Amino acid sequence: MHQNQLLKKSFPRVPPFHYEAQEVLLICARRIGVLCCQFLARLPDWAMEIEPIGWVETCFDEKFGVPRQSGLCPNSWGVMHFHEKYRQADLVRGLQDFSHVWLIFAFHQTLDHGWTPTVRPPRLGGNQRVGVLATRSTFRPNGLGLSLCRLERIETSGELRLFLGGIDLVSGTPIYDVKPYLSYCDAVPDASCGYAAEPPVKLRVVIAPSAELAFASLPERTRDLICEALALDPRPAIHDDPERLYGVRLAGLEVRFRVADHVTIASISRQI
Ligand SMILES: C[S@@+](CC[C@H](N)C(=O)[O-])C[C@H]1O[C@@H](n2cnc3c(N)ncnc32)[C@H](O)[C@@H]1O
Repeated sequence: MHQNQLLKKSFPRVPPFHYEAQEVLLICARRIGVLCCQFLARLPDWAMEIEPIGWVETCFDEKFGVPRQSGLCPNSWGVMHFHEKYRQADLVRGLQDFSHVWLIFAFHQTLDHGWTPTVRPPRLGGNQRVGVLATRSTFRPNGLGLSLCRLERIETSGELRLFLGGIDLVSGTPIYDVKPYLSYCDAVPDASCGYAAEPPVKLRVVIAPSAELAFASLPERTRDLICEALALDPRPAIHDDPERLYGVRLAGLEVRFRVADHVTIASISRQI
C-alpha cells in the first residue's frame, strides 16, 4: 500500500491538503525517535578501550604481604616504568614539584576472578558482607584500583622512571594513569569513613635469634619495610593459628614468620 493511503487510513478526518505536511512531520518524528533510541541504547555502552601507560616494579614480589592500602607501609618502594610510546619527559614536566601522586591501575592478578556485588572486608573480620563499591576490594567491576604514593624522584635521563614510596601494589601491576595529589581538594580531614574510620592495628614485630644475623645485614629501608609490612598482619582475616609458620616474599627475600599477639620473624633468606 502507498504511504499516503496508509496516512489516510490512520488520519481519516484530516483534510487532504494537510497530508503532505503531516507526512513530513511523521518522518521527522520517526527520525527523532530512532535517534533517541540509538542514543539511549548507547548510554550503558560507553565502553572504552584503554591501555597501560606503564607498569610498576615494586618490593612486593607476590600479593601476600602487600599492605591493604597505600601509605600504610611508608618504606615500601616501587619504580614506575613507561611503555615506549609514553617514554617522553614531556609527559611528566612539572610533576617533580608534587610530593604525592595517584596511580590508577588494574588489579591484574585477580582480573580473571571477575567481580562480586558483595565482599567481606578484612577490616570487618572477614565474616560480614558489604557492597563491593563500599570497599577497596580487588573484585570490583572493571578491576581498577587507586593508590596514593609518595613521589620520591623522577628520572628523565635515559629511561623515564618515577620512584615511588608507600606503595601497595604487587610487582608488575599495569598503570593506566598518574595524577598529582592536590591537598586542597583531595584531602578531607573531617570525612566519615564507615567501618574503616580507624587506621588498622599494628602489631609489635620481634626478630627471633635465628633471624637476627640475616636481619642485621639488610639495608635499613629493607629492615623497615619488613617490619612495617608484617606489623600489619598480612594473614587472611580468618587465620588464627599462633604456631603456623608463614612465608612472604619481599624485596627479593623469603621471610618466615609467626603471628600471636605480636609477630615473630623466624628466618630471612634470599629468594631462590
Ligand atoms: C585492598 S587493595 C587497595 C588498593 C588500592 N589502594 C585501592 O584502594 O584501589 C590492596 C590489595 O590489593 C592486592 N593487590 C595489589 N596489587 C594487585 C594486583 N596487581 N592485582 C591483584 N591484586 C593486587 C594486594 O593484596 C593488596 O593488599
